[in-house]
Amino acid sequence: MASLSLFLFALSLLSSNCFATQDMEDQELLGLFQVMGSLLDDPDWPQAHPFPCSDTPWPGVKCEIGQSPPFFHVTKIHIGPDILDPPCKISANLSHSLLNLPYLKSLSIFNCFTSSSVALFPALFESLSYLEHLALQSNPSLSGEIPSNLGNAASLRVLTLSQNNLNGEIPKSIGGLVFLEQLDLSYNKLSGEVPQSVGGLKSLSILDLSWNALEGELPSSLPQLQLLQKIDLGSNQLQGKIPLNLGMLKKLVLLDLSHNFINGPIPQSFEGLDNLEYLILDHNPLKSVVPFFIGSLEKLTSISLSECGIEGPIPTSLSSLKTLTALSLANNNLSGPIPPELGKLPNLDLLNLSHNQLSGQLSFPNEFVKKLGKRLDLRENYELCSREKNNISVHSDETPTYCLNSNGGTNESEEQQRREDCKSIKPDWKNQWEDNSSTTTSNPSLDKNLMLAFCAFVVAVVLCFCLL
Ligand SMILES: *[C@@H]1O[C@H](CO)[C@@H](O)[C@H](O)[C@H]1NC(C)=O
Ligand SMILES: *[C@@H]1O[C@H](CO)[C@@H](O)[C@H](O)[C@H]1NC(C)=O
Ligand SMILES: *[C@@H]1O[C@H](CO)[C@@H](O)[C@H](O)[C@H]1NC(C)=O
Ligand SMILES: *[C@@H]1O[C@H](CO)[C@@H](O)[C@H](O)[C@H]1NC(C)=O
Ligand SMILES: *[C@@H]1O[C@H](CO)[C@@H](O)[C@H](O)[C@H]1NC(C)=O
Ligand SMILES: *[C@@H]1O[C@H](CO)[C@@H](O)[C@H](O)[C@H]1NC(C)=O
Repeated sequence: MASLSLFLFALSLLSSNCFATQDMEDQELLGLFQVMGSLLDDPDWPQAHPFPCSDTPWPGVKCEIGQSPPFFHVTKIHIGPDILDPPCKISANLSHSLLNLPYLKSLSIFNCFTSSSVALFPALFESLSYLEHLALQSNPSLSGEIPSNLGNAASLRVLTLSQNNLNGEIPKSIGGLVFLEQLDLSYNKLSGEVPQSVGGLKSLSILDLSWNALEGELPSSLPQLQLLQKIDLGSNQLQGKIPLNLGMLKKLVLLDLSHNFINGPIPQSFEGLDNLEYLILDHNPLKSVVPFFIGSLEKLTSISLSECGIEGPIPTSLSSLKTLTALSLANNNLSGPIPPELGKLPNLDLLNLSHNQLSGQLSFPNEFVKKLGKRLDLRENYELCSREKNNISVHSDETPTYCLNSNGGTNESEEQQRREDCKSIKPDWKNQWEDNSSTTTSNPSLDKNLMLAFCAFVVAVVLCFCLL
């Protein structure tokens, strides 16, 4: 008896399940078929998946069951290289039938629009009131402008439109996306200014507008976005100064403003960026100094200030950055000595100080020089000299030049003498190598021989000293 009732129960459960498969509104099901038909290279998709929410699922479609009536609703569509069968068709397009899927929460299409030109349409941001996640990425034929009503997609948490061919300006309405946490419009052809209205993106933690053609100044509203962890505005045409109070963004981990036309100085408020790990400002006319307080940003792992018109000394404070792995200050006007403590930073794995006017005696531990190898780049600092008899040989074919009287002493006046020596031999070395690159008069193998001879000479002198 008990087993019979169990059997009946199971049967009813099964049948109700079966029922549910048909329990999808016709309009929604039809909408899904049309959307798939406009994307995928398989006209038989509807026949193969007549019940896409239940009995005949497809990995790129997810559904959820609603309450009264308990119909299935399509909540997620994902098309991308991870779902290869069927692939996108050549003429793939973004169908207006998406609007028949009003419960859609997530739409992601990667690498699908590659040939025929496709555009975003305004209704996409108007009618899908549950849409939280929109990611249309790496679609080279997705072009045209971002519709100006973007800000009406009020539920959006993630908006990724990167690596497409979008142009025009970033709509001012964007500030209405108060729940937006991630905004990635990188690698497009967007122009105009970053709208001041971004100050309204109160939930934003990732802002990536890199690799566009954005111009004008950084919006002064940026420091209002207290949850920001990552700002990447690199490789645009931005200008003006860094907002003075940008350092208010206590959660900031990455700041990349590289390859723009931004002026210095680095504001004093940056002192407060306790969580900053990446400070990437290279290729900007900062025309300023490396501020001493950078040494107090304990979490910094990567500093890139190459080609920034920076002058003055390398602050010794940098040597307190124990987590630093990369320091690039190449192509500036830095002068004075290289703080020897940099060679003791336990994690430093790239040190690029090439093309500056650094001077004085170089004294890095051998292990450090060995560990970094070619990632220690000190070329083109003509007043820098090394007393190492052994290596830094990574650069023996370049600068730094070697001191003649190198015996490892620390006597002030000997030090002075060494610097004089360096200066006096500099032009020869410099000219040799410049000749090589500019004309054909010099023979590289001869240069190499000269160098070998010189090295042999130094070794001989050292040996003599030792024997005496
Ligand atoms: C894509 O769809 C839009 C609107 O549905 C249409 O105007 C456009 O011509 C279509 N593009 C292609 C390449 O089929
Ligand atoms: C370095 O400074 C000198 C003199 O102030 C200037 O002529 C030169 O252009 C500067 N070089 C760089 C790379 O900024
Ligand atoms: C150092 O910087 C210069 C100039 O930006 C660049 O050419 C060189 O490749 C860099 N060296 C290393 C080791 O990264
Ligand atoms: C110098 O470098 C060569 C190879 O680059 C290596 O074999 C040698 O041990 C190094 N010498 C010292 C003293 O570090
Ligand atoms: C430093 O070296 C010079 C010349 O070699 C010598 O005259 C002088 O006494 C030395 N000074 C000290 C403090 O050792
Ligand atoms: C010197 O010139 C030769 C031939 O023109 C080239 O192969 C070599 O790389 C040059 N070396 C330097 C250091 O510029």
